[in-house]
Amino acid sequence: MAEKVYQCTVSAPVNIAVIKYWGKRDVGLNLPTNSSLSVTLSQDDLRTVTTASCSKSFEKDTLWLNGHVEDISTSKRLSVCVEELRSARQGLEKEDDSLDKISQLKLHVVSKNNFPTAAGLASSAAGYAAFTEAVARLYGLPWTPTQLSRIARQGSGSACRSLFGGYVAWEMGELHSGADSVAVQVEPVEHWPEMRVAIMVASAAKKGVSSTSGMQSTVASSTLFQKRVKNIVPERMQAMKQAIRKHDFETFAKLTMTDSNQFHACCLDTFPPIFYLNDTSRAIIRVVENINAAAGKTVAAYTFDAGPNAVVYFLEENSAYVLDTLYAVSRNAQGWEDSERNPTSVKIDDV
Ligand code: PMV
Repeated sequence: MAEKVYQCTVSAPVNIAVIKYWGKRDVGLNLPTNSSLSVTLSQDDLRTVTTASCSKSFEKDTLWLNGHVEDISTSKRLSVCVEELRSARQGLEKEDDSLDKISQLKLHVVSKNNFPTAAGLASSAAGYAAFTEAVARLYGLPWTPTQLSRIARQGSGSACRSLFGGYVAWEMGELHSGADSVAVQVEPVEHWPEMRVAIMVASAAKKGVSSTSGMQSTVASSTLFQKRVKNIVPERMQAMKQAIRKHDFETFAKLTMTDSNQFHACCLDTFPPIFYLNDTSRAIIRVVENINAAAGKTVAAYTFDAGPNAVVYFLEENSAYVLDTLYAVSRNAQGWEDSERNPTSVKIDDV
């Protein structure tokens, strides 16, 4: 007779930071040097879908990530997540005798991004959020998203923010254990549903310097970074939360752009320097500046993660103007054809 298979499927969204996480104070636990804040992208086609299952017939903990097989025990970050979740399940099984002892079974996890890799998006945030949630649900853990965020954080820092929709803060916390380094929702998406985003793909190539090694070099060598984490980010976090609460797009946009610029300035101040932006990225910055100058107010905001791709935020009321202008400068790019100027991803590396 075939062994029983226990199974659970979830999906998790991508998030894009407007106050950037850059720098670890504890590499093992993924504890950040500063708090950060992001917007969760709510498009259905920008999610990681993950199925976690366990069965007596499974021989080892295994992950299939976009079709590539990986032994979970060989990945430190995946193992940490699994160990914590499994021991929580063991706790439940001890308390309640009627529960199946599924903590003793091996796990199979199948994870797939429903957006093309060529979208140029860092997928680890959605990936670790979905991984954590799928296993936690399979195990029936009665945890809140904030409790789950402590686990997802240890997989990939920014993943902790993908457990919520809307506007999300990752509070850096103070404890050495990392127990208070968790994500919380600042406002749900319904609070400011007019927010829109366009992703401009300047290059779909894998980034040259991984975020972990880039962060470590910055922490070790940048003096600008020291000033950023001590004197600038704490106030900026408060100002950003206020701007979101008050639907103040101009302040939101200015903080978003200056924070992205400062993060990339810290990369340049790292020794040896790290360059994530390319000429296309810089051209997009100029286009957004021109959009704002012509509008006579700030209606669009760019931000860049550890790579050259731009994410441009704007409000629905300015959607036609912003997208028409972005289209005018990148009309030969792929991605506009089937989008009715409402792209989630426009590939502009050949502009
Ligand atoms: O979560 P990681 O290790 O991939 O680092 C993400 C770092 C940035 O994307 C550059 C900023 C952020 O807060 O998401």
